[in-house]
This record gives sequence, structure tokens and C-alpha cells, in this order.
Amino acid sequence: MSQITREAGALLMKYFRQRVTVEYKGEADLVTIADRKTEVLIRERIRERWPTHDILGEEGGLQDTGSDYRWYVDPLDGTTNFAHGFPVFCVSMGLEHRGQRIAGVVYDPTRDELFAAEQGSGAWLNQQPIQVSKTAKLSECLVATGFPSHKRHQNPNIYFYHQITLHTHGVRRAGSAALDLCCVACGRFDGFWEFNLNPWDTAAGVLIVQEAGGKVTDFHGGPFQLNSRETLASNGLVHEALQSEFEQIFAGRGLEPLPDMQEHRR
Ligand code: IPD
Ligand code: CA
Ligand code: CA
Repeated sequence: MSQITREAGALLMKYFRQRVTVEYKGEADLVTIADRKTEVLIRERIRERWPTHDILGEEGGLQDTGSDYRWYVDPLDGTTNFAHGFPVFCVSMGLEHRGQRIAGVVYDPTRDELFAAEQGSGAWLNQQPIQVSKTAKLSECLVATGFPSHKRHQNPNIYFYHQITLHTHGVRRAGSAALDLCCVACGRFDGFWEFNLNPWDTAAGVLIVQEAGGKVTDFHGGPFQLNSRETLASNGLVHEALQSEFEQIFAGRGLEPLPDMQEHRR
């Protein structure tokens, strides 16, 4: 998996240096030749070695052969960044066996950082073991989130962004969910949440967080599922605090008011 993601990352960098044309899948949902060609390469590499395995990729959809093994492939996580020349993006590959996540690799070709995890064996960054942070107070956390690129008007995350910004050291929105999860795994972030991610965004990163000693659930603390549309990851120590913030926000309680624009102008 590491070899494949490195090869895929090298291809992304070739396109990144050339600056590619952007196409639209939706109003602000971007795709480029780099997404498509990189997924083709990854599918070829999987098929060469494991011809019977199922593959679900963001651009090519599901190839279902009824195998016990299923790959989740995001050839380019962070397409909007990539398209604008902002160097925060990665390749993500997760592998499931009979519904259990067993391996995950996320490769950031801009920093040459390869995050990997194997079920029950731990998580690594460039072959060095990694662990989640030890921050136990939400007020001392740096956390991350993301916003979807389609149906943006239906997403309530701006309220969560506002509230949690005021209760932590800050909230980063860097634009690659897979890398956000890896940053939780290696302690750069203490937590991460996002609505409506897809299985190819989370399959690898979630296992990497868990194998680094972190916790991943839905927003109510229930088990995380690839199709659950709610991802809450943390170092474990601040998980309950984040969950209770979420309960409050969902219930509309204790919300810090948004600044009044009239007053601001005055
Ligand atoms: C996107 C990124 C982004 C997240 C979006 C995803 P893509 O994936 O992970 O951080 O906020 O929800 O769709 O489209 O660049 O593969
Ligand atoms: Ca993605
Ligand atoms: Ca993608």
C-alpha cells in the first residue's frame, strides 16, 4: 500500500507542478485530470496484485466482485487546495476485510509524509511509531474541521466552527479530511470533526487515529461507521468534552451569540 500511495503521490506532484484545468462535479465540487489519472493508476496497481478484491474509489465508483476484501481509494483528498496551488493534499487508501478496517495508508507528497496503520499493530509516520496528544483540557486544544463542497447551504457546521473556536486554542480548516485525521493521530491536532464525509475520505485515517491510541465515534459517542456521515475523532481525553459541546450546539443551548454587525460598524 505504501508503494502504491508513493507512486500515486509522485503522479499528483507532476500534475501539481503543471497546474491543471479545473472541471466541476457540482457548484463548488471540483475535479481535475490528476484525480482521475491517479485513481486509474491505483486501481491498476491493486488489480495487478489482488485481482479479486473489491474497490470503491471516489472517481470510478464501486467495482464489486463479491470479495471479502474491499479497498477505499481517494486518489486526491484536497482537490480544491490542489486546484488553487495550495499545497495541502494527499492520497488515501484503506483496506477492509469482512467489514473490519485492517490497514490504512495516507501519503502527503508535498511533505513526503507517509502515515500508515495496521489493525492491532500501531500507527507510523515515515516508519516511526506515532501517538495521539496528551492534551486533556478542551480549552488547550487545537482542533480541525472541514466543510462539504456540495449542498453547502444545508450544512450547519458554521455554528460548530464558531462555538468550538471560542472554546479552544483554535479550529483549523485545512481542506483535506484524511490529513486532518492523520494530524490527530500524530498529535498535531487534539481533535477533528466533520459532517457528511464519504468512506474514501475516512477509511484509512480513522484506523490510523485508532491505532495511534485515539478515539473515533459519531457525534453522540456511538460507534463510527464508514457510512454514518458523522466523524468525531480525538485523542480520547477530550472526546467527552467535544461530545458535550456538540449536544449543547444541537440543542441550541449556551451558544455564544454571533457578533452584531450594526454594533461592529459603530
Ligand atoms: C474533501 C476534503 C475536505 C473536506 C470535504 C471533502 P476531496 O475531499 O477532504 O477537507 O472538507 O468534505 O469532500 O473532494 O478533496 O477529495
Ligand atoms: Ca476526499
Ligand atoms: Ca478526492
